[in-house]
Amino acid sequence: MMQTILLILLFLAAAASIVYGLWLLIPILYGLPWVPTNPRRIRRALQLAQLRPDEVVYDLGAGDGRVLVMAAREFGARAVGIEISPLQCCAAWLNTRFSGVGGRVTIHWRSIYTSDLANADVVFAHTTAAQAPRLRVSLEGRLHPGARVVTILYDLEGWQPQDMDDREMVFLYHMPPTPGGVSSYQLQRYLDKPKSG
Ligand SMILES: C[S@@+](CC[C@H](N)C(=O)[O-])C[C@H]1O[C@@H](n2cnc3c(N)ncnc32)[C@H](O)[C@@H]1O
Repeated sequence: MMQTILLILLFLAAAASIVYGLWLLIPILYGLPWVPTNPRRIRRALQLAQLRPDEVVYDLGAGDGRVLVMAAREFGARAVGIEISPLQCCAAWLNTRFSGVGGRVTIHWRSIYTSDLANADVVFAHTTAAQAPRLRVSLEGRLHPGARVVTILYDLEGWQPQDMDDREMVFLYHMPPTPGGVSSYQLQRYLDKPKSG
């Protein structure tokens, strides 16, 4: 009897380790590790993008669905999650259903680089330094004029941010993008500042 219980416990521990390993490994294999965004930073990004209730926000790499839940619950928007890992897709689906926002959220199991974004009013992307250039190139021509892109931690070099939150490291871009970068944005901000004296 004791042996059977031990075997079951061992089996459960092995299964949990495999699932957790795949949870971490699959995102890494696709070049974008699973790093959940702090809720304060998500809120700031959606505020900076001025997400409205009649709009559709896409989270590129939806992870556990936390961005989708906040966009639907606090901003009243419709939210679409694009996610490559089947485990994260399941977690995001469960999270949005248990949070009571399932009716306003859709999750697609596919790559952010090949998904149709024509419908997106706001795009949220928590990317990495290595993936940011690829993301910028892939976004070119895929978003309608007036759409906004918010990136977390890394800017999209080659595009001048419309606004940014230096403390939270959130960057906002309006489509079509203005060529430039963070330094041209800072120069513009300095030149626009009213001079005293
Ligand atoms: C940095 S996490 C961000 C999670 C979530 N958006 C957040 O802010 O908490 C990146 C997510 O992108 C997913 N991912 C990685 N490569 C992807 C790809 N090519 N297409 C879609 N999702 C991808 C990973 O599985 C991971 O869940």
